[in-house]
Amino acid sequence: MKRVYIYEGFERFWHWTQAILIIFLAFTGFEVHGSYTFFGYENAVVYHRIAGWTLLGLYVFAAFWHITTGEIKQYIPTPKFMRAQIEYYLLGIFKNAPHPVKKNRLSKLNPLQKITYFSLMVVIIPLMMVTGLLYIYYRVPQASVVDPLNVSSLGPIALWHTIGAYLLVIFLIGHLYLITTGHTVLTNLKAMLTGWEDIEDEDDENEQTENVNN
Ligand code: HEM
Repeated sequence: MKRVYIYEGFERFWHWTQAILIIFLAFTGFEVHGSYTFFGYENAVVYHRIAGWTLLGLYVFAAFWHITTGEIKQYIPTPKFMRAQIEYYLLGIFKNAPHPVKKNRLSKLNPLQKITYFSLMVVIIPLMMVTGLLYIYYRVPQASVVDPLNVSSLGPIALWHTIGAYLLVIFLIGHLYLITTGHTVLTNLKAMLTGWEDIEDEDDENEQTENVNN
């Protein structure tokens, strides 16, 4: 095993800030939806909008970072080893089989993670942002008219925003399970907290090992 610096500082900051914001958005969003009462409807609306704008701002920085560092390439989906990865999660994992795709600094995501995170970043989160903004701006009063603008078309916006919210909640549950499937139950969690991960030794000169760093 070798200690590899796998997640940069910004990546960890982005990951945890986004996690907190999405959980908070789900919590306040489902209160707005009417699923329960916690903050009170009016407060939930205000908090939800603030968190929504914050997530939007965070994504602007994250997009900039991923593009300028080239890390965006890690997320481009590939069918290579997809089948092996699915078989691993369905069967291999219960028989202690080795992970089919070895992680390293230059390739830290398996094909299922690539397609999932790519879909989140390119489809689901933008869908939430666009429908969230449409939600906000359809409700802007027109001059002295207090009624929301064009109420009839809020239906599909609310529907897509809510579908996206359910998909994100399903993702979160799956994600929580999958983070426990590293070398040990806590390996992946520790890596996202500290940046460092113990991974199987491979002859990869490009890897940024602890020795190189210190
Ligand atoms: C990304 C930026 C987001 C923005 C700008 C945004 C904005 C909004 C707005 C404006 C509303 C209508 C309530 C109101 O008038 O304030 C709303 C509702 C809602 N949001 Fe978001 N939201 C965002 C992300 C999310 C996320 C990530 C989730 C869940 C994980 C979520 C879940 C919900 C739910 C469940 C509702 C209630 C839908 C309904 O019953 O009609 N939102 N959102």
